[in-house]
Amino acid sequence: MLRQSVCVVLGHVDHGKTSILDFVRGTLVVTKEAGAITQHVGASEISKQTIEKLCKKSIEQLKIKVDIPGLLFVDTPGHESFTSLRERGGSIADIAVLVIDINQGIQPQTIESIKILKQHKTPFIIAANKIDLLTGWVPPKNEYCFLQSINNQDKTTQIYLDEKLYNIVGKLYEYGFESERFDRIEDFTKQIAIIPVSAKTGEGMSELLLFLAGLSKKFLEKTLTTDLKGPGKGSILEIKEEKGLGITADIIIYDGTLKKGDTVIFGTLNGAKKTKIRALLKPKLAGETHKDKYNYYDEVHAAAGIKLFAPGLEDAIAGSPIMVISDEEFQTKEINDQINDVLFENDNEGIILKADTLGSLEALNKLLKSEKIEIRQTGIGKVNKKDILAAEASKLKNKYEGVVLAFNVNMLDDAKEHAKNSDIKVIETKVVYDLVDKYVKWRNEQKKKDQEDLVKNVPWPTKLKILEGHCFRDNNPAIFGVEVMVGKIKNKTRLINSDGTVVGQIKGMQLKKKSITEATKGMQFALSMSGVQFSKDLFETTELYPYINRKMADELKTKFEEELTNEEKEVLDKIANIISGNPFF
Ligand code: GTP
Ligand code: MG
Repeated sequence: MLRQSVCVVLGHVDHGKTSILDFVRGTLVVTKEAGAITQHVGASEISKQTIEKLCKKSIEQLKIKVDIPGLLFVDTPGHESFTSLRERGGSIADIAVLVIDINQGIQPQTIESIKILKQHKTPFIIAANKIDLLTGWVPPKNEYCFLQSINNQDKTTQIYLDEKLYNIVGKLYEYGFESERFDRIEDFTKQIAIIPVSAKTGEGMSELLLFLAGLSKKFLEKTLTTDLKGPGKGSILEIKEEKGLGITADIIIYDGTLKKGDTVIFGTLNGAKKTKIRALLKPKLAGETHKDKYNYYDEVHAAAGIKLFAPGLEDAIAGSPIMVISDEEFQTKEINDQINDVLFENDNEGIILKADTLGSLEALNKLLKSEKIEIRQTGIGKVNKKDILAAEASKLKNKYEGVVLAFNVNMLDDAKEHAKNSDIKVIETKVVYDLVDKYVKWRNEQKKKDQEDLVKNVPWPTKLKILEGHCFRDNNPAIFGVEVMVGKIKNKTRLINSDGTVVGQIKGMQLKKKSITEATKGMQFALSMSGVQFSKDLFETTELYPYINRKMADELKTKFEEELTNEEKEVLDKIANIISGNPFF
């Protein structure tokens, strides 16, 4: 049997997600038809009959049939700090509506939503909202079809709408999506439909609902097929304390049936846990005037949003699956695996990640992986001393990964103190994408600083050749001409010869009678050196190298991997060979 499709509404803050749902709910509530709308916990359901009624004109015009039992809408907040709810929404959605304010276009959380939809491969359509605010737009009365309304606008306004629309199309293309106004689409498998709407006047709502129904049928027939009598499966949206009841879980059921008295299994920080359902609740519709806010049910079928009351839910983690027990061993493993994917500790190299919920941890895990950033340990809750200790341990393996990334959580006082004392960087933010950017920026800065320190203290791999017939003075100090064959050399560098003998330290460098502090490849200059005797310690054509010990050589190689040229790398290897052949180094 086909169930309703779960449709998540995503988008940037204030672009009109809730208003679109309010419009649908409002119109239907106003019609006061019994069963037109069912209020759920965290969701609203619109039945097939209702869609058919509201979309009557569009159904005739576009010849799309409503072949699903209804749509269950899940709203999400657009504020930047609610990544976790968007991610959770994205993970349970069959389909989605991406709401974009047509006047503002694509904004940061629009992009975040797009990334979430892409990760979960969720089919979606775009509602380009607030068309009533376009300059020159004349809103019709009681007209829910965009195609009717657009014909009543003057030419300039029609062009203006398209201009705004194709801005969005262009931007979406940069993110790898082809899109088009719904009535101009040639290939529905390639192009994403954009439906211009107004949550204020209702224009476009008819096509929006109809396209969602069509999209569900097209992409999801298999997913939407559910065994109504089968064991219920769902996802926990939120854990909430409810006055008079206690701790409850708001969940979306996407498969099967949940009954009062059923034993369900769900995830906690300590692994899978079982409990028995005491009550299943759905909010009453406005107008149902009873004391109690909720209606109680003996059983609920997918898809539905319900509040579940059962003992032991206080440990449940938002974002975790919840299911009626059918094969306990298998389900325990399934839930534990899912949690362990996101919540783990190991001894590898990598950063320490802390976040507010399982949902945001999941989003961050994926994001860090896609940026090839290693993770050593993840956790939910405030940053504590243990996290700092873990970062210290990680720092020993790789100093650029000995950091704590904290998303939407604070630091405990002792963690603050310990981080300060042990010089552990903690990067905090409330925006998912900032966390990665800030970390990468910090890491690059650290690397650059280390490189600069190293350049100050360690000579660059260089090969010098003494020039024939250019000895100007034999000793005290010896002065002779050299050419830089490879690399670059600084004044005061200690030099060795190819036997590994330290010849001496450069005392001064001159080019055309002027003192210089550095010479680069190809330059010929005069070099002075004390404590050496030309023709005894040094000869014409002797090759000279800077003294670089093994540790310095290793550091140069790892930190300047990209900066060193091939011949400089060869010279570095040669110096390392010379040094290793000399028992005194
Ligand atoms: P968050 O949940 O905070 O992310 O916002 P949201 O996307 O749910 O936006 P919401 O529906 O709260 O709308 C934000 C504001 O825009 C409200 O003041 C709405 O009245 C207004 N608004 C939404 N849709 C429309 C529209 O189509 N036309 C006009 N004129 N105003 C709209
Ligand atoms: Mg809202």
